[in-house]
Amino acid sequence: MKFIKLLLLLFVIQIQAQQGGMWIPSLLKGMNENEMKTLGMKLTAEQIYSVNKSSLKDAVPQFDGGCTAEVISDKGLILTNHHCGYDNIQSHSTVEHDYLTDGFWAYKMEDELPNKGVVVSFVVRIEDVTTKVLEGVATLTSEAEKQKKIQENISNLNKILPKEVWQENSIRTFYDGNQYILFVTETFKDIRLVGAPPSSIGKFGSDTDNWVWPRHTGDFSLFRIYADKNNRPAEYSTENVPYKPKHFFPISAKGVKENDFTMVMGYPGRTQEYLPSYAVEQIVNDLNPAKIEVRDAALKVQDGFMRKDNAIKIQYASKYAGIANYWKKWIGETKGLKKSNAVAIKQKFEKDFQEKVIKAGKQAEYGNLLADFQKNYTEINDYALARDLFSEIALRNTELLSVGYKLYQLEQILTNKGEQAFWDRKNNLINGLGDFYKDFSATVDEKVFEQLIGIYSKKYPKQFLPSNLENVDAKTLATNVYATSKLVSYDKIKELLTGETKAVLEKMNNDPGFQVVKMLADSFTKNVAPKYDEINLKNIATQRTYMKGILELSPKSARIFPDANSTLRVTYGKVKGYKPNDAVVYEPITYLDGVIEKYIPGDYEFDVPKKLIDLYNAKDFGKYADKNGKMPVAFIATNHTTGGNSGSPALDANGNLIGLNFDRVWEGTMSDIYYSPEICRNIMVDARYILFVIDKYAGAKNIINELKIIYPAEKKIISKKK
Ligand code: ARG
Ligand code: ASP
Repeated sequence: MKFIKLLLLLFVIQIQAQQGGMWIPSLLKGMNENEMKTLGMKLTAEQIYSVNKSSLKDAVPQFDGGCTAEVISDKGLILTNHHCGYDNIQSHSTVEHDYLTDGFWAYKMEDELPNKGVVVSFVVRIEDVTTKVLEGVATLTSEAEKQKKIQENISNLNKILPKEVWQENSIRTFYDGNQYILFVTETFKDIRLVGAPPSSIGKFGSDTDNWVWPRHTGDFSLFRIYADKNNRPAEYSTENVPYKPKHFFPISAKGVKENDFTMVMGYPGRTQEYLPSYAVEQIVNDLNPAKIEVRDAALKVQDGFMRKDNAIKIQYASKYAGIANYWKKWIGETKGLKKSNAVAIKQKFEKDFQEKVIKAGKQAEYGNLLADFQKNYTEINDYALARDLFSEIALRNTELLSVGYKLYQLEQILTNKGEQAFWDRKNNLINGLGDFYKDFSATVDEKVFEQLIGIYSKKYPKQFLPSNLENVDAKTLATNVYATSKLVSYDKIKELLTGETKAVLEKMNNDPGFQVVKMLADSFTKNVAPKYDEINLKNIATQRTYMKGILELSPKSARIFPDANSTLRVTYGKVKGYKPNDAVVYEPITYLDGVIEKYIPGDYEFDVPKKLIDLYNAKDFGKYADKNGKMPVAFIATNHTTGGNSGSPALDANGNLIGLNFDRVWEGTMSDIYYSPEICRNIMVDARYILFVIDKYAGAKNIINELKIIYPAEKKIISKKK
């Protein structure tokens, strides 16, 4: 009997453990520690996060705002993804030194390359400040007033809460405004490039393999943090010295196998796990398809030109990858939400919620929430669609319009802030636009404009469409705009922006490109934005109360984690394959053999460097091969991650580095909205592949010598005693 109970308990824990979740490091003790141990973790919660002692969190900084990194030596060496360091690797590249193509390795510290503007930020301390943030808010009646008061409290608290002079305070909301947490951070500003493999390793498979398993990308790069003589943040200086971290990760070369415990720490950007079914339906049926259609059209045009013209390929490669990344993600997300019946699962959850509300006698507080959601999401539908189309078409994917929008804002600044502000912004703009026009082709963009304005006129809700766009001949409009607008080149736009304020304004308003932007933006700001904001504010308030209800009415065991908000989190799970489709099974680990299988000589996505092929043929894998003599490349696990987790450390049960997170699997990209344990997996580069590339491919022994590597125990022959 006892045994069966124990089995049942284990079963329940196993099931629960697979439900995903991104947890707050300072709260692991109460919420997760037991479960993590059941799954195999050998650490205590205190070893992961501690205020007083060094802990794992001291080795996990946010990398330049949007990615994660980890410290891997006592000299401030950090590891992040190749795609996170990409812009920096690119900016050091010239025709003579093409580090993107050939890779870059600093064989001594003097050769490390400084990167202007790049920052790396550590969490020093985490503290709940909910009561302080909500002071004086309850008595206010309107939602707008409440939000304003909260913002005031936050900016005041950020100033007055204790911290050292070189640190920052930053208060963030959790559970949709039900909890506020202070993060004290330390931000380092002298970050130097130490190493990067060639793109044919670091970006192997490029867009074709992006979001896809099985994967064979060595998506890593190395940087070093420099500090002043007191080990504190400082601007770049030759006087700076390598940062001495409070903790750094030893790297395990022991390897992983299915069902091993893994944990990922990092800075996930944004998830929406508690959206009501109405919102998910809208994403699946209306918003994602609209955004996908826009990007699909833009990508087809760019691809057509890139294939014919090498100069355009260089100009557009990075932009293309940027547009394609979320285009592909949304397609996977939509499919996954449909296939996993996410809407029906949400509906069931809502029905249960409603029952719990009645059972608890809480109808007054929570009884109308779902009806409110239904009403508000129905009402906001056209506004939300218009907003997405405006932002995808005018602000994001038609480059001429996105530049035009900057001029539109310039005009607003003059109206709202006066002439001095106008001139300051104008000068900034002129300086900043040089880089933009370097990679701009009016020929490509004209075709994008034609396609996207066509979509605008057809898909934008009719009641908001500017009358000039009804039945517009997009081709003729495009030809006219690109033949006459000054927005098509840097010289022309500079000329347009030169002169007295009044003259500049007049030139802007006579420009056919600017006129299109102004028509779209005026109509959006007047007909869509105010109502969208009004309904959205209601949704925000309803979501906050709904979240409060979920927290209050769920059983303790329900494990409600807060949505991602770019703060430090811990997620854990197991190394595991999955079944993407009927009769198809994916194994959890890939090998160098797969790189060779995918190899297409000379291809821009699947070429393989000769040296790597030679190492493969010679089976020259150093100490990094697995016990069967194969070289592992990547692996997947059930960790719940999202954008921003790129570069996150994947750790074993003892807190040693076993991999580097960089992506998720195609079928599971819906995990931002609904995490399904069956098909949601994060993708990591195996630490052994990283070591192999640094050591055997690049010959950077200096880097290897800096690391603390834990090798598998040598096989000892123990004579069996009877
Ligand atoms: N999909 C990954 C993420 O969202 C990797 C993106 C970079 N790679 C690429 N081929 N675009 O960031
Ligand atoms: N590739 C993503 C990133 O760059 C990670 C993900 O979305 O899984 O953060």
